[in-house]
Amino acid sequence: MSSPSSPSTAASAPEPTSATPAGSGAEASEAVVVRGVERIFPGAKGSSVTALTGIDLTVHAGEFVSLIGPSGCGKSTLLRLIADLDEPTAGDIRVFGRTAQQARVDQAYGIAFQQAGLLPWRTVAANIELPLQLHGVAAAQRRSRVAELLELVGLADFSKHYPDQLSGGMQQRVAIARSLAEQPRLLLMDEPFGALDEMTRERMQTELLRIRAETGAAVVFVTHSIPEAVYLSDRVVVMSPRPGRITDEIDVRLGEAAERGEDLREDAAYFEGVTAVREALHGPATAPSAGAARGVDVR
Ligand SMILES: Nc1ncnc2c1ncn2[C@@H]1O[C@H](COP(=O)(O)OP(=O)(O)OP(=O)(O)O)[C@@H](O)[C@H]1O
Ligand SMILES: [Mg+2]
Repeated sequence: MSSPSSPSTAASAPEPTSATPAGSGAEASEAVVVRGVERIFPGAKGSSVTALTGIDLTVHAGEFVSLIGPSGCGKSTLLRLIADLDEPTAGDIRVFGRTAQQARVDQAYGIAFQQAGLLPWRTVAANIELPLQLHGVAAAQRRSRVAELLELVGLADFSKHYPDQLSGGMQQRVAIARSLAEQPRLLLMDEPFGALDEMTRERMQTELLRIRAETGAAVVFVTHSIPEAVYLSDRVVVMSPRPGRITDEIDVRLGEAAERGEDLREDAAYFEGVTAVREALHGPATAPSAGAARGVDVR
């Protein structure tokens, strides 16, 4: 992210100390609560685009929720609203019981978007350690955490390289490592694996599940890929465009994240999940338009 005010690096949340809104005591234990959110963008000549309307979504602490839907249905807009990179026209958003703005100030989450958003003048290691440095973590501790993260994303040999010496996929892996640096309780990810080749992508998916199992972090994950959504998620939220809204939610019951190995990709429950999400997006397979929604990858 290029905006100077954006939390382009991850941070772990201090325990929520700020006042929770009236009547929302229970909401503080939820990672994300979105209520009646609408986002209307002004268009040309007085027209407007309703990017989102009537959005209600709760992401429980530790839950993995994917947002899927055709291009332009408002997935990125919703994620940006949660991250306080944009403001809703109507409605309310809470992150661990705090306003989205307060959560951003507190750096209550890590974010990884499709654009890696690395600082070109810092090495790979220096990019990953930035959030730790900003929070005054001691140098020795930073070094060991960075080494761990480099290992995790398979870039141990590239710590002294600069971003422009890396491929797009490698840059993205640096961004993911950075978002995990402080073991945030919430990760907001917008197509973070979109630029990766299929093999790296599958490996990163498995790693993300492992990390998530280890840290217990909640994840809100935007993707175009039905198989990716099903493999990763506890719940897949299906959206439709014009105006962008939530049309379906599918509980995926593939077991604990820690137990989701590569073999799960050939499991009957996995295929059932893929079919359920596909049908929610396109209608039953007999419909002539099945698989035709623009921007959704059914492979
Ligand atoms: N800053 C903006 N100004 C005006 N319109 C916007 C802005 N951001 C998004 N929109 C509009 O809001 C709608 C939703 O956009 P958004 O980027 O959230 O879609 P998306 O679901 O993430 O799509 P994709 O899958 O292609 O990334 C689109 O019609 C888009 O043109
Ligand atoms: Mg998007």
